[in-house]
Amino acid sequence: MKTLALFGSTGSIGTSTLDIVRARPDDFKVKALTAHSNWEKLAEQAREFSPDIVVISNEAYQAQLKEVLEGSKIEVLAGEAALIEVAKIDIDLHIAAIVGIAGLKPVFSAVKAGNDVALANKEALVCAGDLLLSEAKKNNVNILPVDSEHNAIFQVFDQNSRDSISKVILTASGGPFRTKNRADLSAVTRDQALKHPNWSMGAKISIDSATMANKALEMIEAVYLFDLRPEELEVVIHPQSLIHSMVEYKDGSVLAQMGAPDMKTPIGYALNWPSRGEVNSQRLDFTKVLNFEFYPVDYDRFHTVDLMRDIIKTDLNKAIVFNAANEIAVDAFLKQKIAFLEIEPMIQECLEHIEVLPINTIDDVFALDLETRHYAHDIVMTNRIKAGTG
Ligand SMILES: NC(=O)c1ccc[n+]([C@@H]2O[C@H](COP(=O)([O-])OP(=O)(O)OC[C@H]3O[C@@H](n4cnc5c(N)ncnc54)[C@H](OP(=O)(O)O)[C@@H]3O)[C@@H](O)[C@H]2O)c1
Repeated sequence: MKTLALFGSTGSIGTSTLDIVRARPDDFKVKALTAHSNWEKLAEQAREFSPDIVVISNEAYQAQLKEVLEGSKIEVLAGEAALIEVAKIDIDLHIAAIVGIAGLKPVFSAVKAGNDVALANKEALVCAGDLLLSEAKKNNVNILPVDSEHNAIFQVFDQNSRDSISKVILTASGGPFRTKNRADLSAVTRDQALKHPNWSMGAKISIDSATMANKALEMIEAVYLFDLRPEELEVVIHPQSLIHSMVEYKDGSVLAQMGAPDMKTPIGYALNWPSRGEVNSQRLDFTKVLNFEFYPVDYDRFHTVDLMRDIIKTDLNKAIVFNAANEIAVDAFLKQKIAFLEIEPMIQECLEHIEVLPINTIDDVFALDLETRHYAHDIVMTNRIKAGTG
């Protein structure tokens, strides 16, 4: 029986994780569940899975949650400090499924406490990769990537033959607008951007997929997780999302991991690790025609990937600015305050304007994150970004 703490249980990754747990009650026991404001769904999950503790990070909903769980033995806590405390409880695996940089402090706390982490929250690694990985090393903690691409690489990247690896190839679906040109993109709506062709995901990552900022964040994630030099990382468009990433060896062999586009496969891999076990995910049917297409990335169309290539070559800490600017821009786009094509120039303007000083602590990360957020908010409020179509 493996014990779990599931942070971000009400989201897309969170509910997929609980689908796996539900099917294997003798193998997994959830000890803690957390959400931000969706207290009704958290309460429903708590009634079904009977954790010891639930945390609602938005304190405004603590009273309602307490009331509906009254009479149960479940402890109800609220606020960010509670998230950080509960991340330290003694469990076998912390599942980091909060979205955005809000996930960083709980993950850091879990790692400091010596809890292994199944990491879906890519923003934690993007903003604090060095700090997080060195803390993990110090505490003998395993970080298991859940992002499908990094999970794929993890499965085929032979750490014992590191010298024989020539590059890592990250695959990208290209999102819902892969075949549109920039002029077409000027009028796309929020609903169109939210409709990913292959994956069903939360709102933020769906928009990130449409701008390819998701791939940009994943590039940094790969650099940290697999200690890659810039020239060892390639991105290729693979619209079918069947091959989730590849590793090329110096002898010309390419090892790929494939599977149906279903996050339950990489989540299940992390839950079962280091063994492999039953996962109730979708299967590929090779008796049906499957296409495997590959195209180069058009860096002129997807500026986010180009901006991240530059960050990887110059200063990885600029990814904190990229991430914060992107979070504010995506939120503004979802609230229909800016247009789709204004997301990229907002990130670019923040990167050009904000000075990045050395990052030595988590507080340094949050200081830079906050400075960027203020600057990006100001861009939105003053409506000064003009979307380019060039
Ligand atoms: N979805 C995917 O297929 C997928 C694939 C690869 C990687 N990822 C990564 O996994 C992470 C989660 O993605 P998702 O798609 O599952 O997101 P999501 O559906 O939006 O769910 C986010 C979860 O985080 C909670 N949350 C939101 N804001 C929070 C805050 N300020 N403090 C604490 N908790 C907060 C939400 O609670 P409420 O429900 O109460 O708001 C929810 O439980 C992201 O970093 C994403 O990049 C996702």
